[in-house]
This record gives sequence, structure tokens and C-alpha cells, in this order.
Amino acid sequence: MQRVPLADGIYWVGAVDWGVREFHGYDTPHGSSYNSYLIVDEKVCVVDGVRAGLGPEMLRRVRGCCQEQTVDYLVVNHVEMDHSGCLPWLIEQLRPRKILTSKRGQEALALHFTREECEGWDVMAVGTGDEINLGSYTLSFIEAPMLHWPDSMFTYVKEPHILLPNDAFGQHLASSRRFADELDMNVVMEEAVTYFANILMPFAGQVTKTIEKLIEMGLEIDTIAPSHGAIWRLREHVDAIIEAYAAWARFEAKPRVCLVYDTMWHSTEKMAYAVADGVAQEDVEVTILPLSGTPLARVARYVQESRAFLVGSPVLNNGMLPNVGRFLTYIKGLRPKSRLTGAFGSFGWGGGAVKEIDATLRSMSLDVLEPLEVRYVPNEEELIACEEYGRQVARRVKEWVR
Ligand code: FEO
Repeated sequence: MQRVPLADGIYWVGAVDWGVREFHGYDTPHGSSYNSYLIVDEKVCVVDGVRAGLGPEMLRRVRGCCQEQTVDYLVVNHVEMDHSGCLPWLIEQLRPRKILTSKRGQEALALHFTREECEGWDVMAVGTGDEINLGSYTLSFIEAPMLHWPDSMFTYVKEPHILLPNDAFGQHLASSRRFADELDMNVVMEEAVTYFANILMPFAGQVTKTIEKLIEMGLEIDTIAPSHGAIWRLREHVDAIIEAYAAWARFEAKPRVCLVYDTMWHSTEKMAYAVADGVAQEDVEVTILPLSGTPLARVARYVQESRAFLVGSPVLNNGMLPNVGRFLTYIKGLRPKSRLTGAFGSFGWGGGAVKEIDATLRSMSLDVLEPLEVRYVPNEEELIACEEYGRQVARRVKEWVR
């Protein structure tokens, strides 16, 4: 089995999930990986597991590096099932002397697995500043609550300056290559921002605090080895992903407008295209995202990176189309900030969709424009009004950039 060294005695021993295309509602067109790490020193330590079913693949990699050596420690940085699903089986195989996790991780393990499954597990809670000596290497722990669960924790291997931050800095990206510098960086960064938008956007405040904490602690970081996707090992890549996280957490954005809509008989779509034309007339970039056919995770990525997003729907049964409701539920949960937004759409008689969208956007503490509506099919005058609306949005975006 492929085992990939990160440093002397430190290996990637995870599993690649080539076939996963959906991750709790998040589309993963490139699959994913669950990255586990093994440190073979005077003491042997495994950091993080893989999802249920992929334990045998991980175990073969572990045993390929340390044969029958006793495993002293298993570190559980995060209890979500993509990393802990295999644990009852894996622990049975490896029989680690101690399981190290955060205090919230200790609680979460007991709430994920039955008493029978946990039988014989010697779980010890560790917190920020706690250290475990393995021989030539020392593990240091950093609590990272809400990145993205309460239990989340980073493990830092001090001597080779390797940070194992679990989900943070990850990407859903299956590959036979383990390092970002071996891959197409455009794809890696695209998946990194999509991952941030869909997993970490709601916790942007905690991301900022954690980065500040790492800086305050003066940690030297030469490698960031997350629990999904590519490992960042070049200085410029380590700096780039930390800087990108800091910027995404501040909700920095491109001067771009996204038009997110669904349509019934193309009236709302015509409005979207006319608004887009108006935005483009002001030389501001615009992206049209039809909800029938664009996965929500990709729309979230555009919201993460764009200053403005407008949401359109015609009326169905006095309300918005279900696709639009689904999008609003999703994006509201992600809690974007510092975004200009607004509702648009067509109606026949009673209306209702635009009112519902507008009310939802206003409940999200965003900068909400007055809504734009047309009755049935937009005529030439109304299309001109849509273009003017687009020009106004673009001018607001340009003012913000200045
Ligand atoms: Fe990759 Fe939150 O689990």
C-alpha cells in the first residue's frame, strides 16, 4: 500500500474515497480523502481515523510502516464520523494504550459509540499547551473549538514543525498525489475555498481567533497536513493557505455580482440576464447561477468570494420555488457577512416569492436592496428597468471597492 512520508518516521496512512460525490449535502465532484498520520518514534502514535469501511485500507498502511509494533497513542482531533467511523474496528486492531482527544472530544466519543464499543478504551483529555513526548518528536495540542465542531483540536508535531489541523485547511479532493505542489494549484485552491465556504463560513470568527492564536503562540509551521485533500508543504503554499483563510474569514470579496435564481417559464431568467447585462455595462464581473443544475456547495463558494448576490424566483403557490427555498435555508445557515443582496422575480397575480426572499435576506443581517418584480413576462421597458437595477448594484459594488 502507498504510504507517504512527511518527515523521518512520519507518514500519511489515510484512505482515498474516489467515489464519494455528496458529503452531507455538499457535492464533491473530485471525491475526497480521509488523511490519517502515523508517527513511528520510540513511541508510536496514530493521528485520526477514516470513515467506517475504509479502516482496513488505513490499517494496511499503518502496519506497512510499523509492522507489529505497539501503538502507544491514538489522537482523535475530531469525532465527526468521516474520521471516527472506523474507530471501534481500528482500535480493536491496533489496541492503542491511550486515546488522546479534547475534553469535548471525550464527551463526543461517549455519545457516538455504545458502551460496548468503548469498552477498554483509555481516553485522556488534552488541552492547549499539553504535550506528549514520543522520543525524538513531541506532540503539542491546540484546542480549536468550532473549527468546525466543539471538539475540534489541532495536533502540532514540534520538531519537524508539522501542523495536523484535521478539517481546517482541507479540501474534498481525491488523488493519488498527497501534496499540493504535485497537483494543479487552481484545482486545489478552488476546492479549498469551496471547503471553507461550506464548512467554515459560519465559524469565521473562530477561524480568525485560531489564526491569531497560532501567531501569538509563535508556532513555526513548515507543513500543514489536513484531514482531507492535499498537504501543504512548500513555504509559499503554507503562507498562501493561512493568508487565504484569514481573508475568507474577514469576508473579503471580489467585486463580482452573482445572480442565483430558479425559473418557471423563463420570466425570472430573462430578468436575471437583463440585470446581469446592466452589471456588465458597469464593467463589474457577473456570474449567473441557475439553481436547477448548480450544486449548492458551488453557489456557496461564489457567495464566499463575491461582494453581491441577488436571489430570484417566480411565484409558485403564493411562495418561491422549492429550489430557491432550499438555497436560502442553506445560505442562511452559512451566515455570510458583508454582502450586498436583493430579491427579484416575476409573478402572475398575488405574488409572494419576492416578499419571502426579501424577508429571509433581511433576517440575515446583510445589506439588502429594494426588491425588483415584474408581472408575468417582462416587456421591453421592464427589461430596461432590470438593466438599470443591475447598473445600480454594480455601482454599489464599485463604491465598496473604493
Ligand atoms: Fe472531516 Fe468535520 O469532518
